[in-house]
Amino acid sequence: MTNRRHLISGIAGIAMMAFTGHAMAQDVVKVGLILPMTGPFASIGKQVDMGARLFLAQNGATAGGKKLELILKDDGGNAESTRRLAQELVVNDKVAVLSGFGLTPLALAAAQIATQAKVPQIVMAAATATITEASPFIVRSSFTLPQASEPMADWALKNNIKKVFTVVTDYGPGIDAETSFTNKFKAGGGTVESVRVPLRNPDFAPFLQRASEAKPDALFVFVPAGIGAQFMKQFVERGLDKSGIKLIGPGDVVDDDLLEGIGDVALGAITTQHYSAAHDSAANKAFVAAFKAAYPGTRPNFMAVGGYDGMRLIAEALNKTIGKTDGDVLVNAMKGMTFESPRGPILIDPETRDIVQNIYIRRTERKNGEIYNIEFETIPMVKDPVKAAKK
Ligand code: DHB
Repeated sequence: MTNRRHLISGIAGIAMMAFTGHAMAQDVVKVGLILPMTGPFASIGKQVDMGARLFLAQNGATAGGKKLELILKDDGGNAESTRRLAQELVVNDKVAVLSGFGLTPLALAAAQIATQAKVPQIVMAAATATITEASPFIVRSSFTLPQASEPMADWALKNNIKKVFTVVTDYGPGIDAETSFTNKFKAGGGTVESVRVPLRNPDFAPFLQRASEAKPDALFVFVPAGIGAQFMKQFVERGLDKSGIKLIGPGDVVDDDLLEGIGDVALGAITTQHYSAAHDSAANKAFVAAFKAAYPGTRPNFMAVGGYDGMRLIAEALNKTIGKTDGDVLVNAMKGMTFESPRGPILIDPETRDIVQNIYIRRTERKNGEIYNIEFETIPMVKDPVKAAKK
């Protein structure tokens, strides 16, 4: 009898331990964050990670009654690694959400896993228009290149620019930037000549030589965040800074992370984008101050805001679901979500799961001794034009 009682209390004890362990596991929501933290695109990974962590630090890392645990994995910018890491995070770590995705091929590499596992995939950086169509579990907190580039065509047409030479990195976002700008600009009467530069180890010199010989009114450029400094160095070496050819494009080439390093040659560039560290709002001033305090010697760029707002989407979705983590429930909670970001107001389009936001026209200027992209015109709440055109 005594033995039996011992046995029963032993089993009850094990059951109790198992129950407690289970309850504790349920109180934590794991979020996988896959980013290029090393290699040529490390600046993207670092900015997104800093933004995501700042949001959690400011909000006590809890949402919907659960503790948020971020698991950072470095894919080095390699799509095969992204896919493998996404798989491991889902199967071994049992993450409720996958997030990050520094480049388009990396976001696409994880889409099938998100679909099969029914895990939300928050794209915080990559910006090719069609990414959101790769899985019904993708929600985007960054932007799309057509969203940023079409307003550039309108500005150029209004400002007596008739002939443009485009130089873009030869993959999804570059092709999106080139196509959306060119179609709009040509429809308005402009002429365009285009070249594409490889993503890996780009040598801009021969392309800039051709651009210089074509004598356009403006050079339209897209290179991924973090690469602008390399581009601008060769721009100066070819004498293009003194050629009178105007530098225009989506804002990636003059990203906030690089501006001080690029220096005065960037002054006067006209770019269109969704975020500038100089954005004039109380929310942005607080964001920039908190970012600089958390990470001394840095300035947030548009990638940091993608990480910050992406984490906010996850947290607010969990608040709405009261901690329920089923993938379709979380994605539904994000559809139609709207809040004021450091970039301005944002909305998750309930039909496309893509972000709707203001696009600003900015001039690169020196302000209080530092170089910033100063916004001087706002195009309110722009939808991705590629998906809008399909409807
Ligand atoms: C990508 C897009 C960008 O605008 C950028 O700055 C970097 C990467 C991308 O989708 O790969």
